Amino acid sequence: MMQRELALEFVRVTEAAALASAPWMGKGDKLSADGAAVAAMRAMFDTVNIDGVVVIGEGEMDEAPMLYIGEHIGSKGASNQVDIAVDPVEGTNLVAKGLPNAIAVIAVAPRGTLLNAPDMYMEKIAVGPKAKGCVHLDSPIEVNLNSVARAQGKSVSELTVVLLDRERHHGIITKVREAGARIKLISDGDVSAGISVAFEETGVDMLLGTGGAPEGVLTAAALKCLGGEFQGRLIFADDQQLERGKQMGITEPNKIYTIDELVRTDDVMFAATGITDGDFLRGIRYIGEWATTHSLVMRSTTGTVRYIDARHKITQKPDYFRIDGMAKS
Ligand code: FBP
Repeated sequence: MMQRELALEFVRVTEAAALASAPWMGKGDKLSADGAAVAAMRAMFDTVNIDGVVVIGEGEMDEAPMLYIGEHIGSKGASNQVDIAVDPVEGTNLVAKGLPNAIAVIAVAPRGTLLNAPDMYMEKIAVGPKAKGCVHLDSPIEVNLNSVARAQGKSVSELTVVLLDRERHHGIITKVREAGARIKLISDGDVSAGISVAFEETGVDMLLGTGGAPEGVLTAAALKCLGGEFQGRLIFADDQQLERGKQMGITEPNKIYTIDELVRTDDVMFAATGITDGDFLRGIRYIGEWATTHSLVMRSTTGTVRYIDARHKITQKPDYFRIDGMAKS
């Protein structure tokens, strides 16, 4: 079992990524916002007492300089063998435009327990703890909505479904509207949206639609800690993706993965830090020589959900945490 002390270390990792990315908010430069977060996250991971391998990362080895799939990270000589899923900036466009719900996020679990999802799409459904066991990815939308409404003691018209605002979701949107539920369309960031189904105060009851597969595994890890439900089906765009999937151990292309197949352990940890303000995390603020962070860290083993508020004296931190340090990053 992973030691619980690691939870605070993982928050340091997402804090570093968020702090490095936040100076780029609204600058219209998503690549720099991401690059800064990747470098900061990578550097912080190497101080953590784990022997980690990236299974969900910034892409393949030949396309990403750091945090690529298969990269070994963690402090030298550590014996704690783990799988790591990262998204240093989940919602690069959100940061570039200063829009809500951009987060820095990681999930960590014992070696060999997280699905190695290639960079492709995944069809998803997610609901919170009260509706766990009440939905199926292949059930008609109105059937799923009725079951969730019943489980939550609401009418369908009181439910809110969150979806990425994409052409490909036209059919689903029409069906949700016909069933009478409300809809929240988001421009990006389906990890944050997927997690919000487990926090009643967000007013979101269900996530539907197709987004990134890596984001799906991260969402599943979070919902495992929160007691929610997630199912996903990989969407292979071409033979090349099918081949890459096979190399990574995906043998059944049409399979619906349950949360327990995406995250094959009861010992997963999840951490996220807000970059911009969001539904359950505040974004980074600058107050004098301080920057404040708001993070969430969870452990499925115990079900603890912990929020961490921190103030960082950025004048004592690396240049890339400073707003005026941007030119150097
Ligand atoms: P990035 O942070 O990599 O830009 O991803 C943002 C995101 O909106 C994810 O949350 C989502 O899963 C995916 O992109 C959707 O992909 P697409 O924009 O191709 O529909």
